[in-house]
Amino acid sequence: FKIVVLISGSGSNLQAILDNIESGNIDAKITAVISNRANAYGLERAEKYGIDAKVLDHTHYESREEFDLELQTLIDSYTPDLIVLAGFMRILSDGFVEHYNGKLINIHPSLLPLYKGLDTHQRALTDKQSDHGASVHFVIPELDAGKVIIQGIVDIKEDDDAESLAQRVHQIEHKIYPHAVKILAEGRLAYNNGDVLYDGKP
Ligand code: GRF
Repeated sequence: FKIVVLISGSGSNLQAILDNIESGNIDAKITAVISNRANAYGLERAEKYGIDAKVLDHTHYESREEFDLELQTLIDSYTPDLIVLAGFMRILSDGFVEHYNGKLINIHPSLLPLYKGLDTHQRALTDKQSDHGASVHFVIPELDAGKVIIQGIVDIKEDDDAESLAQRVHQIEHKIYPHAVKILAEGRLAYNNGDVLYDGKP
């Protein structure tokens, strides 16, 4: 089971998946890590494991479609079974997303369908929510709207600010993202035209 991971930054979720592969919890191989930013720390994490670490700088392309096509060609050269977005800070064009129908997943720092888009922690605090969290979901053209695979919940504490909350959400991300990858690698999730079956059940 071959995985390509797309990042833009630190890659702590990438690290969590790498740790789970190393410990034998996930039976899969990350064949490439691709970043749109040359200084993404996640590239160094990949190199430590001897994984191909590639940079595709979006500023060198004239349009989103041109960049996405080049990205698609690079990804497809690794023939992955799964493409994992792990802090990849780019909106992907419809054609790209449709090309990877059912094979493209993302982690979003909120309890979807709440708080799509940016600034999720502050928005949850402003709304005086009692809990918050993160969601792993299949990617569809509509932003943060694909079927949710797994969610992790954290309580919001009275003295939380956006940063302290973000930190706890990050910790839970490192648990749920590897778990989602694990069940996908085990073939326990089936994706059919937007419907998701887990162990054969809806
Ligand atoms: C996470 O907060 C994730 O929810 C969001 O981007 C961040 C990635 O963090 N999509 P990292 O690069 O994995 O540390």
